Amino acid sequence: MEKTVGTFEEAVRRSEAIWRDLPTNPQKYRVLTGDRPTGALHIGHYFGSLQNRVKLQGLGVECFIVIADYQVLTDRDTAPRIHENVRDLVLDYLSVGLDPERHRTYVFVHSHVPALNQMLLPFLTLVGMGELDRNPTVKEEIEAAGLTNVNAAMYTYPVHQAADILFCKGNLVPVGKDQLPHLELSRKIARRFNQRYPRDDQPLFPEPMALLSEAPKILGLDGSQKMSKSRNNAILLKATADETAQLIRSAKTDSDRRITYDPERRPEVSNLVLLISLCTGEKPEAVADRLGDAGGFALKQELTRVLNDTLAPVRARRAELERDADEVVRRVLRQGIEEANRRANATLAEMRRAMNMDYGLS
Ligand code: TRP
Repeated sequence: MEKTVGTFEEAVRRSEAIWRDLPTNPQKYRVLTGDRPTGALHIGHYFGSLQNRVKLQGLGVECFIVIADYQVLTDRDTAPRIHENVRDLVLDYLSVGLDPERHRTYVFVHSHVPALNQMLLPFLTLVGMGELDRNPTVKEEIEAAGLTNVNAAMYTYPVHQAADILFCKGNLVPVGKDQLPHLELSRKIARRFNQRYPRDDQPLFPEPMALLSEAPKILGLDGSQKMSKSRNNAILLKATADETAQLIRSAKTDSDRRITYDPERRPEVSNLVLLISLCTGEKPEAVADRLGDAGGFALKQELTRVLNDTLAPVRARRAELERDADEVVRRVLRQGIEEANRRANATLAEMRRAMNMDYGLS
């Protein structure tokens, strides 16, 4: 019997142990994480995942970041904007401080690493149709996108994602809760490959671990749903200070002047309080106490001030990048793609050897 999923609490506990170990043993870990190129990133991404990546990079951990341009084909017709979306992502990464020039950080796109697709085929034979059909995250995405005629890549992209992670033998994957089913599948694929194709020395693939962070649930400025560019309720990282002020001014609040942190009963006000706390490092309750009965207008003024302060260095870096953006983006991708191809080709050669498909030709 294979070990089964385990609870969310276990995943959180394991992640906490890894966070404690990381500063002392950064060389034990290789991070692989990524995003679909669906548009420019917003402050939800910043507080949710980007800050973490910068922290991992700063600890000296090798970090691969995949821009999943093939995956994005699964649920939308994205071709007209794909190039621009990839460019936006790279510039967002660089402006928050990911720095492939000075660190072991690599940014690459799916479409330019052919060996990933070669890995996909044997991986597909290790997974059952039923398993793909049951994936809760895939089910939710199909529903959210309102797809009636679901393409096959929608069901198989979690297997593709296993190749994304395993090509570089990534063992640490910083993800949100929604990605845990995919990571569990990647672990199974690693384990099953190692079992089916045993080697004399150590098994080929590590079983990658999730690195969860205390992901704050950031709502959009309408206060009713998750922040998301497509819902038009987001503050983009590339927004100017004035645009930020204007967006915050339009945020929904309520008529009670007393500021409290009560996400259940006052989601809109609490969301703004949470954002302040993420900028200042205070606890949300402390922010609410500090503001007392200052009212919604003062709450928004405070958020505008601390958020613009927090984003000032990000914007300054972006302004600098914009002077030569296209060239910078090309350079970062070229470098990331080259390293990704090197690792992926090496791993593919090892896989072929393990699968007895090395015919001594090279
Ligand atoms: N599936 C992820 C998303 O929808 C993106 C992604 C692709 C990814 N490959 C990955 C994330 C590998 C982590 C690891 O956001």
